[in-house]
Amino acid sequence: MLTNSRTDVMYFTGRQVHIKRDDLLHADFSGNKARKFYHFLINDFPGVSHIVGSGSAQANSLYSLSVLAKIKGWKLDYYVSHIADYLKQQLSLSSGIRSNYSQAIKNGANVIEIDWSSNRYHACHHLDDAINVLKQDCLRKSNFQETLFIPEGGRCEYAKTGIYILGKEIVNWAISQGINKLSIFLPSGTGTTALYLQEYFVTQAQKTTLDIQVLTCSTVGGDSYLISQFNELSSNSQLHPQIISDGNKYHFGKLYLSLFQLWQQVLDSSGIEFDLLYDPIGLNVLKHAIESGELKDREILYIHQGGLLGNATMLPRYLRKQALTKNDSVKINR
Ligand SMILES: Cc1ncc(COP(=O)(O)O)c(C=O)c1O
Repeated sequence: MLTNSRTDVMYFTGRQVHIKRDDLLHADFSGNKARKFYHFLINDFPGVSHIVGSGSAQANSLYSLSVLAKIKGWKLDYYVSHIADYLKQQLSLSSGIRSNYSQAIKNGANVIEIDWSSNRYHACHHLDDAINVLKQDCLRKSNFQETLFIPEGGRCEYAKTGIYILGKEIVNWAISQGINKLSIFLPSGTGTTALYLQEYFVTQAQKTTLDIQVLTCSTVGGDSYLISQFNELSSNSQLHPQIISDGNKYHFGKLYLSLFQLWQQVLDSSGIEFDLLYDPIGLNVLKHAIESGELKDREILYIHQGGLLGNATMLPRYLRKQALTKNDSVKINR
């Protein structure tokens, strides 16, 4: 269960690119959530009855955590900075849109907006600060062992269990294909998946003669922010993946029409639907790397990290923006 995803091929920017189809691992835990939350799924947590998560109200991890909580019989409190009006409307209008937010609520998740005006959070600037306040409150209570705090986006040591399995699958696949020089590319948010993957190749897979490198790009806050995220998980820079860029600094969740068009072209030519938050940036950075000749003489493996449920909220926003920008309609066959 939740392992051994298949590998497909697509043609992109004149190159053959292998695609690790982690999006097909499981309907509810697709992509990197299947890898990051694997540890919680396969292990027992005696005494735990309650999990606390945090992040964006449209995050894939909200939905995956809600499924995890349901399977394990845990209560889920998920803290967010803010819930956008269009997400709230989707619920109240019963629009039928299956978004991460709407499906998580359906699974019983308690999605809680931090009340930033409350005294409790007066010294907090970020969601992480507010979660620390909640953690301290929880520690003061006698029942704190019942609660498991899961950091935003699954950015924690536990994620290693499943990501190392992904690394092993890639090594076995490369050997079976007779591939010696492999560049693995995946876009990063917290950087957890890319970092533990690189760590696996450096520390666990040295016995093979394969030349494997992990390349990634930032989609949140720029390259220096991504490096600081890597450092929080491991201060050993030898274990950090290589960050590549197309020269742009992107704002997470912002709509970039040219990137959307690239996403569409890939959908049309390969039939593979990628996520709309991370992959348009990832595909553009990969395109840039291919065009600049960086990946010459190496096979390329792109990891499809799932997240397609989130497309239900992103796609109407893109289509609206595109319609406002130019009047021609767009066909998406889904
Ligand atoms: C579809 C998709 N791609 C990429 C990422 C980024 O992963 P990470 O936070 O491990 O860098 C995420 C977030 O988990 C995701 O849902």
